[in-house]
Amino acid sequence: MQGMKLISNIAVSVALALSSQVFAETAPEPGSDKGDAAKGQQIATQVCAACHNPDGNSIIPANPSLAGQHAEYIIKQLNNFKSKDGKPAERESAIMTAMVEPLSAEDIRNLGAYYAQQTPKPGVAQDKSLAEQGEQLYRGGNLETSVPACTGCHSPNGTGLPPKYPRLAGQHSEYTLGQLRAFRTEQRANDENDVMHTITSRMTEKELRAVSEFISGLRQ
Ligand code: HEC
Ligand code: HEC
Repeated sequence: MQGMKLISNIAVSVALALSSQVFAETAPEPGSDKGDAAKGQQIATQVCAACHNPDGNSIIPANPSLAGQHAEYIIKQLNNFKSKDGKPAERESAIMTAMVEPLSAEDIRNLGAYYAQQTPKPGVAQDKSLAEQGEQLYRGGNLETSVPACTGCHSPNGTGLPPKYPRLAGQHSEYTLGQLRAFRTEQRANDENDVMHTITSRMTEKELRAVSEFISGLRQ
């Protein structure tokens, strides 16, 4: 009897597993804000792959990797690149403003779902001693100049904390350094409450370089 019960329990769980798979493969219900990764993949392959690679692991250091980035952060950035009613976009990038122009809110959700599901390729820091200085800053901040540790918001392993705090681990150092400089000069000013502007305005150029180098090799 025990054995029979076990077998029927297994049968039930197999049936449940199968039916949930079927649900996962059907289109999301109208009004659902989860996004359809398969539809996102079509746009990613046709439009975005040239610069971000088909799976979002960019091989060009100036272009950010998107693989494994949180959907919420990707959606926010794509909306921030949009220029509405001729007003300047909240996040400035001539390339990306042109890219997002034809995208609907649904396309943007689908792209967020697609990239969030891709597996990020781990990176390797090129300059080990610079990366070591960067690690101290990433994990401990700089008490003298009131720079907080990055871990508090971006997590110790750089995977970030959705919905607000982006994943950083393995990102190209060239891209990260460019963004940190842009936050410092407020060329990028789409960070809520100026959080990244305040932090980077307390950092030296050397510190920006060191932490960018460390992040490029940070693994989860
Ligand atoms: C011609 C090259 C190019 C194409 C094509 C392109 N991108 Fe980009 N993308 C960039 C560059 C360069 C940046 C960095 C902009 C900056 O410096 O702020 C960027 C930034 C981004 C970011 C911000 C990432 C972050 O970590 O903040 C997202 C999201 C993004 N792109 C998504 C897309 C999507 C989705 C598409 C297709 C619809 C696309 N991109 C097409 C070059 C491109
Ligand atoms: C108090 C929270 C907080 C702390 C501490 C913090 N960040 Fe951030 N960071 C944010 C938020 C929020 C964003 C997203 C801004 C936006 O919405 O575009 C961000 C964005 C970034 C980005 C842009 C990522 C991308 O893909 O474009 C980089 C790079 C970054 N942070 C690096 C750092 C570094 C390095 C440190 C430590 C010196 C740090 N952050 C400390 C909150 C924080």
